[in-house]
Amino acid sequence: MNKHIIFNHYLPVKLDTHRATARAFAPSNIALCKYWGKRDVTLNLPINSSLSVSLGELGTTTTVSHHERDEVWLNGEQVDVADKFAQKVLEFVNLFRREQRIPLKIETHNSIPTGAGLASSASGFAALTLALNDLFSLDLPRSTLSQLARMGSGSASRSLFHGFVEWEKGEQDDGSDSFATPLADKWDDFCIGILTLTEKPKPIDSRAGMQRTVETAMLYQSWAAQAERDLSLIKTAITARDLDLLGKTAEHNALSMHATMIASQPPLLYWLPESVDVMHKVWALRAQGLSLYLTMDAGPNVKLLFSTQQKSDVIAAFPALQIVIPFATSHQITES
Ligand code: PMV
Repeated sequence: MNKHIIFNHYLPVKLDTHRATARAFAPSNIALCKYWGKRDVTLNLPINSSLSVSLGELGTTTTVSHHERDEVWLNGEQVDVADKFAQKVLEFVNLFRREQRIPLKIETHNSIPTGAGLASSASGFAALTLALNDLFSLDLPRSTLSQLARMGSGSASRSLFHGFVEWEKGEQDDGSDSFATPLADKWDDFCIGILTLTEKPKPIDSRAGMQRTVETAMLYQSWAAQAERDLSLIKTAITARDLDLLGKTAEHNALSMHATMIASQPPLLYWLPESVDVMHKVWALRAQGLSLYLTMDAGPNVKLLFSTQQKSDVIAAFPALQIVIPFATSHQITES
């Protein structure tokens, strides 16, 4: 199955080009139960279901407008169309345009560092999908938009929504049952702390990293069963607002994912010495009674999980922490 068949299935033969411009925002997300490994590398179909929390106002705003030629802009600067970032964006846009000649200016603004393991590709492809849906007046349902965004980057399927979001792995070969849905639960005092240790792009992206793990790590064989167990525990923790169960399970899930990466050949270690220092500090604080947990994605930066009651103690320990309270205000994913 290729992506073109899926896009052709959902899109009209001829796109409506009446709207001059469209803008959309999508939040970044942090997985509490990670997506790691694909059963289909073309359609980004995952081996396991995953669950994330969206980062409120931290994310991507994308504007798409009709233009005399294709142009790609990132954070106010024009990017060469031959550049890897521009190529990925245009490749995705081409899935919508197909053989139609519709040159576009695509402007992306990230409120998070690009390529630092903070999931800017998730919010990026989600915002681009929403903006194109609007520009071409496609009116596609969220579940379909989630499927299309998934084909840009797997975790983008979850960035279509705020709050806690579950991406069901699905069983179908065409991925029609592999999309994300938001959970109804709100958790007002739930906090995420982002410790940016470096803004340098990672040397191996998650696409290549997960493929290497699937192909070479014996340890990966136990991952799917563990992810299924962790997902269920995390959902129980969310329903019960049980921070310790949630934190303990999310931390264990992240470190188990990293264990499969380290067990790949050649090994894949995204951590910096500073990442390990943070881990030790979190564990020391926990031993002193603080309910504080960590999670990490395919990069060296560390994300902390805690609740507003612990906020002042956590800030005292990590003054550089950027804190997101995902349920503090009711966020709306905007399209205009
Ligand atoms: O969506 P991708 O291809 O960037 O992969 C994301 C992988 C992790 O961030 C490590 C885990 C996740 O579920 O977000």
